[in-house]
Amino acid sequence: MFGLLFLLLTAHVTVGQNITDCSTLPADINYAANPKFPDPFLHINGSRLTKRDQWPCRKEEIRQLFQRYSYGKLPPGPASVTASMSGTSLKINVSDGGKTMSFSVSVKLPSAGSAPYSAIIAYGGSSLPIPNTVATITYQNFDMAADNGRGKGKFYELYGSNHNAGGMIAAAWGVDRIMDALEITPDAKIDPKRVGVTGCSRNGKGAMIAGAFVDRIALALPQEGGQSAAGCWRIADEIQANGTKVETARQIVNGDTWFSTDFPKYVNAVPSLPWDNHMLHALYAYPPRGLLIIENTAIDYLGPTSNYHCATAGRKVHEALGVKDYFGFSQYTHSDHCGFPKAQQPELTAFIERFLLSKDAKTEFWKTDGKWPIDEKRWIDWTVPVLP
Ligand SMILES: *[C@@H]1O[C@H](CO)[C@@H](O)[C@H](O)[C@H]1NC(C)=O
Ligand SMILES: *[C@@H]1O[C@H](CO)[C@@H](O)[C@H](O)[C@H]1NC(C)=O
Ligand SMILES: *[C@@H]1O[C@H](CO)[C@@H](O)[C@H](O)[C@H]1NC(C)=O
Ligand SMILES: *[C@@H]1O[C@H](CO)[C@@H](O)[C@H](O)[C@H]1NC(C)=O
Repeated sequence: MFGLLFLLLTAHVTVGQNITDCSTLPADINYAANPKFPDPFLHINGSRLTKRDQWPCRKEEIRQLFQRYSYGKLPPGPASVTASMSGTSLKINVSDGGKTMSFSVSVKLPSAGSAPYSAIIAYGGSSLPIPNTVATITYQNFDMAADNGRGKGKFYELYGSNHNAGGMIAAAWGVDRIMDALEITPDAKIDPKRVGVTGCSRNGKGAMIAGAFVDRIALALPQEGGQSAAGCWRIADEIQANGTKVETARQIVNGDTWFSTDFPKYVNAVPSLPWDNHMLHALYAYPPRGLLIIENTAIDYLGPTSNYHCATAGRKVHEALGVKDYFGFSQYTHSDHCGFPKAQQPELTAFIERFLLSKDAKTEFWKTDGKWPIDEKRWIDWTVPVLP
């Protein structure tokens, strides 16, 4: 059963998010306000998971929750995608609903190793040191979905400026199209089974969401994304109430176009949300893909305690599914936002080696230099089920 669902879900990513094998989310969800993190193992109908093979449909439920409440709709795969290499540029044409749009990404091949290469898709360019055996695919995500101005960008040329998708899910859709293009373009010299994604700050949030929703991404390296990448909205609200300025849900919907047009309806009642961002981390647990969250303890606005506790809760799903070491966390104090301290190099190297270079590297990293008390029970009132 587990194997069958694996095939179906893997297939539906390429044929367009077909979820006919899981029930759809009910129209009305009445979730009793809860200041602690919602139980990721509890279906929206109140039944708790008892077997591993129930996770894929719970995962689909979580994907739908995020789209409905927070990011907006991720359209199913388009009618057609064509692509070709021209110099270092991978040109991608997408047609859907009788409309066509094209965009391109630049591909910088590595100086060592041999084709087909592994690659990292970098939102707006990478601020991490990418090794010389891995290609860099630079993705101008703000051309796909503008950062300043709702409904602008290539995504909206295809789906209309009134589409409710926020910029981050629209850009994630673009990553899915880059994967389509890599699969059909051997000239790109990239192995589509070994492609990662990264970005920093707002693009750290974007990279996190792309990896969460695009199962073909083998590794995500979101850097200093803070809230909505590593951190949970519930803790951010409490940090703010305690007097430290942090990016909260209420604040993030002002001015920015990253989230759906529906998210503002919910931001004043965060405890009533049937999800929080630990469930975004959980989307990486199956099919298991690498996730290394890189954060900075020194910047209050990122919500360092929120990042730590939220990720700790997210990893409980990895634990239940027996893939704990696919998820790493590294939080280190430094003054330069999006700088990359040497202290975090061992974990970055290990994750890239294991998930992009098929090497036998150990990826058990759960590191912080934060000096706060670690009290999981403060946020988690559920246990990790045994899922045979
Ligand atoms: C989903 O799958 C069903 C059954 O195979 C099919 O009838 C339907 O057209 C598919 N929907 C999409 C959006 O691909
Ligand atoms: C609850 O929902 C899940 C997922 O759709 C389903 O597998 C399960 O049978 C449902 N349980 C009940 C009691 O309806
Ligand atoms: C994309 O579409 C344009 C315009 O229709 C066409 O000239 C070009 O050859 C197409 N490119 C690819 C890679 O399919
Ligand atoms: C907020 O302050 C209270 C009282 O000092 C403390 O117990 C709690 O841990 C703080 N919350 C956060 C998220 O820092």
